[in-house]
Amino acid sequence: MTDKLVRQVLDQVDAPDPRVGEIVSALIVHLHAFVDEVRPTEAEWRAGLAFLAETGRWCTPDRDEFVLLSDMLGLTSAVDDVNHAGPDNMTPSSVEGPFHSPAPVREPGAWISEGPERGRGTPMVVHGRVLSCDGTPLPGATVDLWQAADDGLYDSQDDAQRPGNLRGLFTADEEGRYCFRTIRPSSYPVPADGTAGRLLRAIGRHPMRPAHLHYQVTAPGHRPLTTHVFLAGDPHLGSDAAFAVKEELVRRPVPRTGGWEMDGPYEEVEFDLRLVPLGWAPGG
Ligand code: BEZ
Ligand code: FE
Repeated sequence: MTDKLVRQVLDQVDAPDPRVGEIVSALIVHLHAFVDEVRPTEAEWRAGLAFLAETGRWCTPDRDEFVLLSDMLGLTSAVDDVNHAGPDNMTPSSVEGPFHSPAPVREPGAWISEGPERGRGTPMVVHGRVLSCDGTPLPGATVDLWQAADDGLYDSQDDAQRPGNLRGLFTADEEGRYCFRTIRPSSYPVPADGTAGRLLRAIGRHPMRPAHLHYQVTAPGHRPLTTHVFLAGDPHLGSDAAFAVKEELVRRPVPRTGGWEMDGPYEEVEFDLRLVPLGWAPGG
């Protein structure tokens, strides 16, 4: 790295907002260090800039290819970790992903699967409690839930599903309990037709995410929690394209017959969510 050049660039930073100055200065230092280490040819540098320009062209009001790139490089998870530190007994957060949308309000125990997947998929009962980290139940907590079908498609990707299918907004009861009935989601590929997919192929990576359900949970006096539950046994658990798997979030579905007002065999998943009280501080 030519220290003199980096210093000249840094010397011209005079940001009115000091945080902007700090962020951009660090970016300048790290990008110059990258050039110093990699020593790209001019053609390689132009190709990199063209890749970013093409990424911008993939973006639409419904698709953000830069967010997908950030997900695929583990950067969304890194930012998530930096911003959601908490006590050891909290449920860890993990990335939101691009498929969250408003869910229909549903009654406790309702089916969230109302499309053609209901006749194909493995029935599943998912239940648990919303708790504060110390185990106190959080009655009235809202549990916003979304998942893909057994063929890996969300409602927004599939004309055969109505909007709101495989989504639900639930309110935890007086013991903090929530429950819904659904079908088992499968692993699925992230959208790989844009530049994020091109990058994955160029570095020999697959686009698969292990089977999961997404949660966004809110309760008064607590930090909102965005997270997933992953299904044990999925072959992609160890190589999630979005780097969102944490061992505390993996549950093994238990085969059952009878109970939960289910006809025939089904799988049961129990998943408690422990939220961090507002004002929590390390060592506090
Ligand atoms: C998802 O699980 O919905 C997702 C997360 C990150 C990137 C793409 C999809
Ligand atoms: Fe997902």
